[in-house]
Amino acid sequence: AADSATTGDLRKIDNVAHRGATGYAPENTLAAFDKGVEMKSDYIEIDVQRSKDGELVVIHDTTVDRTTDGTGYIKDLTFEQLRQLDAGSWKGEQFTGEKIPSFSEILDRYRGKTGILIELKAPELYPGIEEQVAQELTQRNLDRPNNEKIIIQSFNFESMKKMNTLLPNVPIGVLTSSKAHTAPEALKEFSAYADYFNPSYGIVTKELVAEVHGLGMKISSWTVRSQEAADFLIEMGVDAIITDYPDYVDPRN
Ligand code: G3P
Ligand code: CA
Repeated sequence: AADSATTGDLRKIDNVAHRGATGYAPENTLAAFDKGVEMKSDYIEIDVQRSKDGELVVIHDTTVDRTTDGTGYIKDLTFEQLRQLDAGSWKGEQFTGEKIPSFSEILDRYRGKTGILIELKAPELYPGIEEQVAQELTQRNLDRPNNEKIIIQSFNFESMKKMNTLLPNVPIGVLTSSKAHTAPEALKEFSAYADYFNPSYGIVTKELVAEVHGLGMKISSWTVRSQEAADFLIEMGVDAIITDYPDYVDPRN
């Protein structure tokens, strides 16, 4: 695409609400995702894990300790136990009663309203989670080319290779904060199965953006929690910004 500076076009940067609009509501709850939609985010980002009895759930940490009133590992608690927890009050009294969402609930509630950037969080703890995620998407026809805005990403590269084989039409992203992964050979290897290279913003440079684009991948960067960080990534020319504050990326929204 032509450079916006020479064409005068406003290049659209996708605005991704990180765990929902986490700056304004408790992360990975309907309150945060609704807020992301209200703020016109192009995508909501969700972290997917699995309960003891096999239900896919949306929560970031591998334990419930930080973001709920319970304790213990997600993998050791049943879906019913997880659903009884309060996932909102830690962020403020007004959010009391927010629950840990299920993956299927999120797909059904937000598909068509906003894109969904699905992170498989610690998939090594959940053998077979890739097949399960693939099934949930396939049964909703969300596995078709350009069907709806669905992207799957992870820090676990083997899991993403597998995901790409299971769902060849769904864009795949690799997440990293390691500079070693920005080496040309590493990037080339990622480009064999990934459509997005998604680094933390501390390792983003204009050269990296150009290299990633040269390999046919897009670049989404995280996690913006200040206006300065948003401005930096806009200047770097990334394709998407993953942010706790959607308004830092596109103040018109
Ligand atoms: O979407 C990127 C970002 O979410 C990765 O880090 O720890 O917030 O899941 P984390
Ligand atoms: Ca995440």
